[in-house]
Amino acid sequence: MTMIDRRGILAGSAALLAATTVRAADAPAGTLKAATASKGRRFGSAFAWSPAGADAGSFANPAYAALLRRDCDVLVPENQMKWQAIRPAADRFDFSRFDPMVEWATTNGFALRGHTLFWAYSRWFPAWLNNHDFGQRPAIEAARILDQHIDTVTKRYGRKIDSYDVVNEAVDPDTGNLRETSLSRAMGGTANVLDHAFRTARAAAPHAELVYNDYMSWEDGNAKHRAGVLALLADFRRRGTPVDALGVQSHIGLFQPTTDAGVVAKRLEPEWRAFLDRVTAMGYRLVITEFDVRDKGLPAAIGPRDRGVADFARAYLDIMLSYPQLGDVLAWGLSDRYSWLRGFEPRPDGEVTRGCPYDTDLKAKPLLAAMLAALAGGVRQVGQAA
Ligand code: XIL
Repeated sequence: MTMIDRRGILAGSAALLAATTVRAADAPAGTLKAATASKGRRFGSAFAWSPAGADAGSFANPAYAALLRRDCDVLVPENQMKWQAIRPAADRFDFSRFDPMVEWATTNGFALRGHTLFWAYSRWFPAWLNNHDFGQRPAIEAARILDQHIDTVTKRYGRKIDSYDVVNEAVDPDTGNLRETSLSRAMGGTANVLDHAFRTARAAAPHAELVYNDYMSWEDGNAKHRAGVLALLADFRRRGTPVDALGVQSHIGLFQPTTDAGVVAKRLEPEWRAFLDRVTAMGYRLVITEFDVRDKGLPAAIGPRDRGVADFARAYLDIMLSYPQLGDVLAWGLSDRYSWLRGFEPRPDGEVTRGCPYDTDLKAKPLLAAMLAALAGGVRQVGQAA
């Protein structure tokens, strides 16, 4: 090695060290779980399965695992507990990916949320379930398939999973009506399927918090979705369906061009509070199950974009955290590098979406600081279930 090479390497590592030091100094003090615990809540994130060492938002990626350890009390599988993952056929289960996630989480001291026992949306059914022949007595066969699923999952993991999104996304946002599926046609209506799922979950996992989870949100265009969810929650109460909490997915977003996220948030606040007031008045707790921020309406430039994301998130979380009925707060991933938004809702300009607290290099962003401030400043939660 020549002197020049060596000097180059030394200069390179000095620069790296300096960069690391600056970044560490810039990182806001405290962790998300500590900020959240100061108000009696748990913070968490989605995580995934991958082969050891893969570049993924997985426990098997040491860099991502370090973030999970730093910030999270509770983890939720992003995809690996869904029917598409664990139920390859009517008579077969496959836990080969989810089991190691549960194992890693529990041996490392994390709690787990279960997502989801039933995604009530045919788009996300496994193909076999959309095409299943329910035979001569369809209601009985459909209930058998659903019960078997809920019993198998809840009993396999027992107390390792203490909160379940029992039903996910049953309301059609365009109409506010319940979505139809192969199971609802077999069982004489969606309401029957949903009630059945919650009752079976309560019997099989009496220790667990049972959540109805959906993506009705505070932005324009969600009024029908919110009304549909309120009607469903009222129906659950009328029928005595055992539902403990509303899971507010919280994939919030700025979709129209804007330079002032704070102004947008102020305009959206009254209707959103009216919705949350009605939910909590029916006796439901709240859970933030899948928080991230869609940034389509913000400029490409990182500075203003990150500021807008942080301001919008701060305003949203301040509202959510003013409800003592709010329990767990979970992000749908911690890093932009692995966020589903990159593929599911790419920006028209092709820039990487920036909706998570850490960037593609797993470095802290203004959103992290906004989350820390909101979480530590929130109202203390009350009424936690046993
Ligand atoms: C998403 C995952 O993040 C993606 O990887 C997958 O392709 C589709 O599902 N609401 C939910 C989550 O309840 O299950 C979704 O997760 C995001 C929206």
